[in-house]
Amino acid sequence: MTYKPIEQRFSVEYQYRLHFTRDLFSPENDQLAEIIRSYKPEGTTKLLFVLDDGVAAAFPGLHDKIQAWCRLNEATDFREIITVAGGEEVKNDDRYVEEVLKAIDRNHICRHSFVIVIGGGAVIDMAGYAATIAHRGVKLIRVPTTVLSQNDAAVGVKNGINYFGKKNFIGTFAVPYAIINDADFLTTLEQRDWIAGVSEGVKVSLIKDHDFFEFIERHAADFPARKPDIMQELIYRCAELHMQHIARGGDPFESGSSRPLDFGHWAAHKLEHMTGYSIRHGEAVAVGMALDVTYAMLCNITTEEVRNRVIRVLETIGFDLRLPVNGDEEIETLLNGIEEFREHLGGKLTITLLTEIGNKHDVHEIDTALMREAIRIMSNQQIDA
Ligand SMILES: NC(=O)c1ccc[n+]([C@@H]2O[C@H](COP(=O)([O-])OP(=O)(O)OC[C@H]3O[C@@H](n4cnc5c(N)ncnc54)[C@H](O)[C@@H]3O)[C@@H](O)[C@H]2O)c1
Ligand SMILES: [Zn+2]
Repeated sequence: MTYKPIEQRFSVEYQYRLHFTRDLFSPENDQLAEIIRSYKPEGTTKLLFVLDDGVAAAFPGLHDKIQAWCRLNEATDFREIITVAGGEEVKNDDRYVEEVLKAIDRNHICRHSFVIVIGGGAVIDMAGYAATIAHRGVKLIRVPTTVLSQNDAAVGVKNGINYFGKKNFIGTFAVPYAIINDADFLTTLEQRDWIAGVSEGVKVSLIKDHDFFEFIERHAADFPARKPDIMQELIYRCAELHMQHIARGGDPFESGSSRPLDFGHWAAHKLEHMTGYSIRHGEAVAVGMALDVTYAMLCNITTEEVRNRVIRVLETIGFDLRLPVNGDEEIETLLNGIEEFREHLGGKLTITLLTEIGNKHDVHEIDTALMREAIRIMSNQQIDA
């Protein structure tokens, strides 16, 4: 007796919204209540909050304000607020995942309840991961509080933590219920965190949208000057391009080998690790893009003019583009990042490079001698742009 394979096929449609607001937990703000009611129009829904301690420190009244807001809103069944370390530390130590899991268990958070995570990209990645593995997935609302998380990290479908010394080694693809960007959270960011996320806007403009790059170029000096309206425009367009890529790029869960949104990221991920996460993801991305555009120039994939234009914009925004590598050994360690990047995605090596502003070109091989040369140029940092 032979058995034919039993074929299985189904598709699932996903939908989620990124909302924009200010002062999310003011008594008059109905945004979050509306989102909860959109899920469950009648009765109450259990809420567990996970809060970044950097946000808690910057907004000392936030804890009480959230509780007061919940008391005012009948749709909510407030359970607990847990506070976790902000920054990459929270992704480097898996006990934080366990803390969130314990809180989910203690508060009987089920698939019909919400975990609401408020924080930077690192806390969002970690708590999102915990939420997606508890009961095989409890509902998640993300409230990102940094520029980078509002325009990139929190708007997509990836969650994760670092493991074996590797970025995002453990993680899940899972779709959030909703994301809420509250512009007021950004006011307390340190200057470096205000700036860091702008690099993801530069990235997505370089590979997808020439006009957006020109907007950023025109306003490059307005970013360090902290002009909030310009920042809001950048966040909006950057988030929109990231979300469009997920929905229309044909590979929302990255089963292929190409990841164009990771322009500049092979070096970025390695540099974050090599510096013990003393540089921010966004800062590392700026350095990684400057390196790859220099390499592309050395390979004649792009022109010196394009390369210098990119570097000028990044420097005006406030990035230090010097590669933090010293000596041959560190250069070789950095170069290992290319293979690690390939391994993370699986399949054929695919590195996205720029041909011109707004246009990318994927390569499947890196000329190591030329990349070493690019690294030397960018670490000696006589950047004559
Ligand atoms: N999942 C994804 O698709 C994706 C995409 C891009 C980046 N990421 C991840 O995002 C992380 C970086 O996120 P990030 O740039 O937001 O940095 P971060 O989360 O490391 O936060 C930086 C610092 O800012 C503090 N902070 C956060 N909000 C604040 C506020 N409103 N006021 C004052 N301080 C505040 C934090 O406590 C922390 O100390 C990295 O781990 C990166 O890998 C994930
Ligand atoms: Zn990134």
